[in-house]
Amino acid sequence: MSNRLHDRIAIITGAGQGIGEGIARRFAQSGARVIVAEVNPATGAAAAAALQADGYHAHFIQTDVADPAQIERMVAETVATFGPPDILVNNAGINVFNDPLQLTDAAWDRCFSIDSLGVWHCCRAVLPHMLASGKGSIVNIASVHSFQIIPHTFPYPVATHGLLGMTRAPAVEYAAQGIPRQSDLSGVDPDADQRGLLEHLSRPGCERGRTEQRQPMQRIGTVDEVAWPAVFLASDEAGFITGAMLVIDGGKSIQFDV
Ligand SMILES: NC(=O)c1ccc[n+]([C@@H]2O[C@H](COP(=O)([O-])OP(=O)(O)OC[C@H]3O[C@@H](n4cnc5c(N)ncnc54)[C@H](O)[C@@H]3O)[C@@H](O)[C@H]2O)c1
Repeated sequence: MSNRLHDRIAIITGAGQGIGEGIARRFAQSGARVIVAEVNPATGAAAAAALQADGYHAHFIQTDVADPAQIERMVAETVATFGPPDILVNNAGINVFNDPLQLTDAAWDRCFSIDSLGVWHCCRAVLPHMLASGKGSIVNIASVHSFQIIPHTFPYPVATHGLLGMTRAPAVEYAAQGIPRQSDLSGVDPDADQRGLLEHLSRPGCERGRTEQRQPMQRIGTVDEVAWPAVFLASDEAGFITGAMLVIDGGKSIQFDV
């Protein structure tokens, strides 16, 4: 395993399962001290315990990213446990998929409180520490919904399009201060029974088999195919990358369907 993130202190939101858990493991294997910031106490504790059992530095902090006070507490506990954070991976997210005219304000608020404002509140909580140390990386896990529109998935694309601005604006704002490398990973994932991208679609007749056939590579991506690029983006090797979007979709978005 690489040592790219040796002794870095990394907060990963939503790391109890799926892509976040995979990122936490690859970060830990790359030498990082990992904070599993997860709303679900069972999966969050289990994910951190599994890393500890394998000899890695990991610590679970129950955190709802929709609650700014919990984020502030989580960052303070990170500092007390491992030290000031060097890396933030904004991975926690939920799908709120609706026909636009059926959408309630409560559903809009639920989507934005986690997929948009929650991301900003996490950035806001770590940025002072990164500014003080003069270094840091923030990796935002976005989606193909960040640059393409799939009908009946409203308002998720509105929130995830915003992630691009949330990545670019702070990147330019703080670049001269050595911080932080901000990057968007636009992921397609993972195992069959998780949240494989097209399983999310509310389109009738949309299933995994057809999903795979529509992919240039004839398959959907794996957790590791998102986790390793996240390790790279958070590492010194990506030192001149900031405000960038890395599309991880097996070429789907550049394929012209005939
Ligand atoms: N799976 C895909 O195909 C895919 C595609 C594009 C983007 N994404 C994005 O990648 C991220 C991870 O996706 P996944 O498939 O692993 O999802 P998942 O649902 O399997 O895992 C998400 C994790 O985030 C946690 N979480 C949810 N709300 C939270 C909150 N308020 N505070 C803290 N944690 C919270 C959940 O408990 C869960 O552990 C999400 O942001 C998702 O939108 C996923």
